[in-house]
Amino acid sequence: MKEQLQSIKNEALGEIAKVTSLKDVNDLRVKYLGKQGALTAILRGMRDVAPEDRPVIGALVNEVRDAIEAALKAKEEAISKTLLEEKLRSEQIDITLPSIEIKTGAPNILEHVIEEVEEVFMSMGYDVVDGPEIEEDKFNFELLNIPKGHPARDAQDTFYIEDEKVLLRSQTSPVQARTMLAAGGDKPIRMICPGKTYRRDADDATHSHQFMQIEGLLVDKNISLSNLKGTFDVIAKKLFGDNVETRFRPSYYRFTEPSVETDIPCFVCKGKGCPLCKNTGWITVSGAGMVHPNVLRNCGYDPDVWTGFAFGFGAERLAMLKYGISDIRKFYQTDLRESAVFDRKEN
Ligand code: DAH
Repeated sequence: MKEQLQSIKNEALGEIAKVTSLKDVNDLRVKYLGKQGALTAILRGMRDVAPEDRPVIGALVNEVRDAIEAALKAKEEAISKTLLEEKLRSEQIDITLPSIEIKTGAPNILEHVIEEVEEVFMSMGYDVVDGPEIEEDKFNFELLNIPKGHPARDAQDTFYIEDEKVLLRSQTSPVQARTMLAAGGDKPIRMICPGKTYRRDADDATHSHQFMQIEGLLVDKNISLSNLKGTFDVIAKKLFGDNVETRFRPSYYRFTEPSVETDIPCFVCKGKGCPLCKNTGWITVSGAGMVHPNVLRNCGYDPDVWTGFAFGFGAERLAMLKYGISDIRKFYQTDLRESAVFDRKEN
């Protein structure tokens, strides 16, 4: 029996030395120490051993079991350690690698310019108001002194939605009429309204079927064209710097009298004349004028008591001039590279 135990021990230790997986270790544990295991069988045979030999054999069985258990445990630990090392090696992260640059984007330039204009006007006591983009013909044209059939309508090729009554507003000027009517004809008004406008224009570098205007209206007593000029100078300086020149040029709108267009020097040729400014050296940024007496009257204000001025900036035009953007379509395409223009100028 002693030899038998010795050979079980040798065989077990030999096998344990060879295995390389935790499963194999476990199989060996079952094979030698399990219920049906070799050593268990020997223990069962103890009853046949002579009583005087039992302590010796018993001690030997314990020793063999302890040796096998110790070998199994050591093997198990060794395999686990190797597995862990392999895992760590395969999942190793090189923390010295340069990181991937994450593009965070930048504020939309158009939105930024509009906010700047809003801030300047708010500091001068203007309210920022909103109006509907789906508008009635009455507000978009009639109350603004552009009756049905008038040729002035042709200048704004309009998207009509319902007959001749409902349309996508072709300008933000209807918000003037809405604001005056809501004010009730007896209060001064200072408001600007930035918003989307729509025209049946073919898209090209300077035209878009959808664009933004910033409408402005001031109604009070004793307002004159010089107030408009001063106001335009303030906003032009804020957007384009203190040295910017401004120019008023006579124009014609049905809702203002007199009417002007307001210009600043061309940003490409700096006033010398180039294809962009059609050799005039100037670029128009808004239409404006003194509110026409008919418009005041139509909207509940007595033109003998109240006067006012109004203006409509092209928001994209302002942003294009300020940031040197040559194509209006860039505002409506989602090319992230364009936002770099903003990064560069602002930082
Ligand atoms: N609504 C005009 C346009 O779209 C611009 C404009 C001109 C607005 C004169 C005004 C104004 O308020 O007084 O061309």
